[in-house]
Amino acid sequence: MHESARSAKRIAIIPGDGVGKEVIPEAVKILKAAAAKGGRRIALTEFDWGADRYLRDGMTLPSDAPEMFRRDFDAIILGAMGDPRVPGNQHAADILLGLRFKLDLYVNERPCVLFDQRLTPLKSRSEKDINFCVIRENTEGLYAGMGGFFKKGTADEIATQEDINTRKGVERIVRYAFEFARRRGYRRVCMSDKSNALTYGHDLWKRVFAEIRREFADIEWSHMYIDNLLMQMVRDPSQFQVIVTCNLFGDIASDVGAGLIGGLGLAPSGNIHPGQVSLFEPVHGSAPDIAGKNIANPMGAALAAGMMCGYIGWTAEAQAIEDAVRAAISEEKTTTDLGGSLGTRQVGDWLADRVASA
Ligand code: NAD
Ligand code: IPM
Ligand code: MN
Repeated sequence: MHESARSAKRIAIIPGDGVGKEVIPEAVKILKAAAAKGGRRIALTEFDWGADRYLRDGMTLPSDAPEMFRRDFDAIILGAMGDPRVPGNQHAADILLGLRFKLDLYVNERPCVLFDQRLTPLKSRSEKDINFCVIRENTEGLYAGMGGFFKKGTADEIATQEDINTRKGVERIVRYAFEFARRRGYRRVCMSDKSNALTYGHDLWKRVFAEIRREFADIEWSHMYIDNLLMQMVRDPSQFQVIVTCNLFGDIASDVGAGLIGGLGLAPSGNIHPGQVSLFEPVHGSAPDIAGKNIANPMGAALAAGMMCGYIGWTAEAQAIEDAVRAAISEEKTTTDLGGSLGTRQVGDWLADRVASA
């Protein structure tokens, strides 16, 4: 193989549905600009998986996809999955949850960092008050898909949904949260559960947290029940640095966190298995209410591409993308959700130019 091809990072691109198909091309444009600037090589391969494909030929996640990604790719960038034409969103479960589970992407890192005071709906809060990361367990809990129907469709119907918490699963995510805190210079980890009501699964979380935190004497710890955590996030987000929690609570807490920093259009995430092929995506969904209008904010997707750069060791490129987003916000080169007047493509162009010329 030619040297340049061998050293290229192989990135899979899955735009998906709705605004995913609008924000991902912008993120790719920005990623290409960052790579070119740094003299890096990327090899991009696009996959057309999503609702259109599912409705056309029934394809969701090909059975060999996990093996292919492990073998042939360094990282995956995904837009969003979800389409009103697919009731139940079977394709989204197969593709998005399928990749999280089958690639064992047990960490969902969801940073909530306020880039500009004007973007938070909280009064008297500024950049120094909102800088935390939700570390969401990403492979078990209520998302494990265990359960079923009994007498479905009858008056006697029973539906069960099992909350799966394994010692191995809880240990590794709690340990990751502490290691993440250390690595990023955060000093506090808050574990959130509902062990007062979920007396088995979340009792395990409490016991494991009490064990693992002893390995990290340099990091302060705290515990909050999830209902209180969400209230405290809104009342005083400055108390949080790293929040570690289960799959469902992490989903909810990260949307609340996104609300504190300017909305879902701005929030990135990384679905990670350290050392293995990992998947980066904006926190938001396919946003059918605004899809196809060139108004979706591409910054969450761009920042997800930036997180991916950091993950594959391109730290300067990661920084360049974040710097460009900060500059766009400060110069009001934004979509309407952030108070600007630009379209999706115009913000993407601006960010790519900024990355190229910085
Ligand atoms: P959503 O995130 O798609 O939208 C919630 C709200 O945020 C909407 O008002 C939307 O207009 C706004 N929004 C989202 N992205 C935005 C952006 N880039 N710029 C500006 N505004 C943006 O959540 P929803 O409406 O609850 O779900 C819609 C579909 O997306 C559903 O099918 C859901 O299952 C799916 N979904 C997928 C993912 C994913 O693929 N990771 C995440 C969340 C929701
Ligand atoms: C997210 C989404 C997904 C989740 C849905 C689409 C299954 O809300 O990535 O936050 O709940 O994880
Ligand atoms: Mn979500």
